[in-house]
Amino acid sequence: MCPQECMVPVLALWYCAGLLLSSVHLCAGVEECILGIVGQPILLPCLYHELSVNFSIEWRKDDKVVLRSVWDDKGNVETWSLNHASIPADAARSGNFSLELPAVHPREDGVHYSLFLISGENQSSPLCSVCFKVAASFSISLLKREHMAGNETTFLCHSTGGYPKPSVYWLINNTLQPPKGSVRTLTEFDLSSHFFSVTSNLTISVSKNDNVSCIVENPSMNETLRYTYKPNDDEPVQSRASEAMWIFSTGLCVVVGIMVIAGVAYQIHLDNISKRRKKEYREEKRGYRRRQQNREEDEVMTSESRETEL
Ligand SMILES: *[C@@H]1O[C@H](CO)[C@@H](O)[C@H](O)[C@H]1NC(C)=O
Ligand SMILES: *[C@@H]1O[C@H](CO)[C@@H](O)[C@H](O)[C@H]1NC(C)=O
Ligand SMILES: *[C@@H]1O[C@H](CO)[C@@H](O)[C@H](O)[C@H]1NC(C)=O
Ligand SMILES: *[C@@H]1O[C@H](CO)[C@@H](O)[C@H](O)[C@H]1NC(C)=O
Ligand SMILES: *[C@@H]1O[C@H](CO)[C@@H](O)[C@H](O)[C@H]1NC(C)=O
Ligand SMILES: *[C@@H]1O[C@H](CO)[C@@H](O)[C@H](O)[C@H]1NC(C)=O
Ligand SMILES: *[C@@H]1O[C@H](CO)[C@@H](O)[C@H](O)[C@H]1NC(C)=O
Ligand SMILES: *[C@@H]1O[C@H](CO)[C@@H](O)[C@H](O)[C@H]1NC(C)=O
Repeated sequence: MCPQECMVPVLALWYCAGLLLSSVHLCAGVEECILGIVGQPILLPCLYHELSVNFSIEWRKDDKVVLRSVWDDKGNVETWSLNHASIPADAARSGNFSLELPAVHPREDGVHYSLFLISGENQSSPLCSVCFKVAASFSISLLKREHMAGNETTFLCHSTGGYPKPSVYWLINNTLQPPKGSVRTLTEFDLSSHFFSVTSNLTISVSKNDNVSCIVENPSMNETLRYTYKPNDDEPVQSRASEAMWIFSTGLCVVVGIMVIAGVAYQIHLDNISKRRKKEYREEKRGYRRRQQNREEDEVMTSESRETEL
């Protein structure tokens, strides 16, 4: 049916379609971007072997030189770089001019790094050009439940510290989209950290059996975070909490009770001691007084007797 001549384009088309499926870049002719994870080092690959002597190379970030290295017939003369960017020490010999950056910052998202060869007065077109894509993982999102007036419940999903902007959506029972108007999502971009944070609220009437999930997708990181609020977990958590409270308050009561009893017992003991002491003291005093009286009487008697003697 199809003549030999048309088979080639058809096959090419299929081949291209296959490639398109696996990688959009190749067939579209778009340069491939390198993904840098924020905070991690990255290698921008570049191999070039056709070198003579007396040349220099420059790695540029857009138009700004980040690394310059000069060779003459004896070897490497000097290397200068910004922010600890580096190339292999044996680059001229191995032809491996890959640029290593010690850490990726989200500010660098979308920049292009290019390697230029300068030989005498002449500057080559870029030997390598790498587009740079930056990504960072989002932190753990929380899913909270707040009871509102009426039957409605608000679920709160919070996701921070990631890059680029994620997509956030909700599912009920893992399949159903929540009704329109029930979701409010606020995405914020922090200018100083260059990170995104997302707060999404879902306010909805849910039955006791509904699963509610918040899904945060960051395709650049190949990352999907899902937090499912399982209604059945709510009760054990709550009951565990109240159980804990019960144990705590009972424990507190027991401890306070023991302390009170001990206190009362000690007080009674003290009272007994002091009563006994008082009694003893009183008895002692009474005895002393009696003895004193006797002595006084004796004295009176003796004085009287003395008087009488006189
Ligand atoms: C390289 O530069 C040195 C000094 O600048 C010069 O003596 C030498 O001839 C140059 N070599 C070539 C191949 O241009
Ligand atoms: C080029 O050098 C880098 C850094 O030393 C290394 O990780 C990489 O594997 C090298 N590439 C090749 C093709 O040798
Ligand atoms: C620079 O380029 C010009 C023209 O393209 C060429 O004639 C000349 O030989 C080149 N010089 C060097 C040092 O490569
Ligand atoms: C609560 O739900 C019941 C039944 O689902 C409904 O009749 C009632 O109007 C709801 N109340 C509010 C305040 O939404
Ligand atoms: C809710 O989530 C739990 C745990 O993931 C699952 O076992 C259960 O089948 C889910 N219920 C529904 C209705 O999707
Ligand atoms: C989500 O709800 C909380 C209180 O329920 C509110 O403070 C916050 O502004 C809401 N966020 C959005 C994005 O609607
Ligand atoms: C979710 O699943 C539960 C259990 O299967 C069911 O009782 C409930 O009606 C479902 N909710 C929705 C909105 O479909
Ligand atoms: C995402 O991760 C999965 C599992 O680790 C892997 O199979 C897939 O190739 C990754 N996709 C991309 C675009 O990195």
